[in-house]
Amino acid sequence: MKDGYWLVGFQYELSGHLYSLGRIPRCKSAMLKHLKEGDKVLVAGVGHGTEAIEASRLGADVTAVDLSETMLKHFRKRITKEKPPKEIRIIHDDIFNVRDTGQYDMVISNFFLNVFSETRVREVANHLGTLVRPGGYLVVGEFVLPEQGWRGIVQTINWYIAISIYSSTTEAVFHPVWDYPGLVKGAGCTIEHIEYFDILGVNLYWSILGRKIG
Ligand SMILES: C[S@@+](CC[C@H](N)C(=O)[O-])C[C@H]1O[C@@H](n2cnc3c(N)ncnc32)[C@H](O)[C@@H]1O
Repeated sequence: MKDGYWLVGFQYELSGHLYSLGRIPRCKSAMLKHLKEGDKVLVAGVGHGTEAIEASRLGADVTAVDLSETMLKHFRKRITKEKPPKEIRIIHDDIFNVRDTGQYDMVISNFFLNVFSETRVREVANHLGTLVRPGGYLVVGEFVLPEQGWRGIVQTINWYIAISIYSSTTEAVFHPVWDYPGLVKGAGCTIEHIEYFDILGVNLYWSILGRKIG
């Protein structure tokens, strides 16, 4: 199976942490406060699985999906080390092969949609939307859409540094920042809340909480 992260997967979690001065890991877990014990959670493109392990600690039944064996190897290592209280179901496959329509209370897509091209990203977001039960949540953690003015310049540079590195070392596609709230709405959700993560007053990352219209 295709492993777009065989080269850089080992350092993905650490570099995200350092690059964002800790904002990216906070962004990934921001919406877990909306979970209830026993909720069914799907983490798409789980990577090393920060939020998947935390969701399990909160009592959720977690399913984690990823196409990269390298990423899953590191995720499994963390599970062995951190021993989350509930078993996490791991699926090594393409997200499109997960067809549990309407089965999840929360579907989480952290820094996952940004790897896809403009056409593909809509298909992926819409697919994620189908997996959420009516009234459930679709959570997207991502780079913010640049604003006008000098802050927008900083936000744009922040994104292009990251995508330049990852599009040359992984299967991620080089592109501008996508309109993630628009994608969440296109996936059949209303936007309930957005939490921002800034450095020196410039919002660089956001966690978008969408609720599936039911
Ligand atoms: C940019 S990384 C983000 C990883 C993790 N969510 C994080 O925030 O650290 C994108 C992840 O999505 C996975 N991925 C890419 N395309 C996928 C697909 N079609 N189905 C499942 N996983 C995929 C990659 O293997 C990679 O682990």
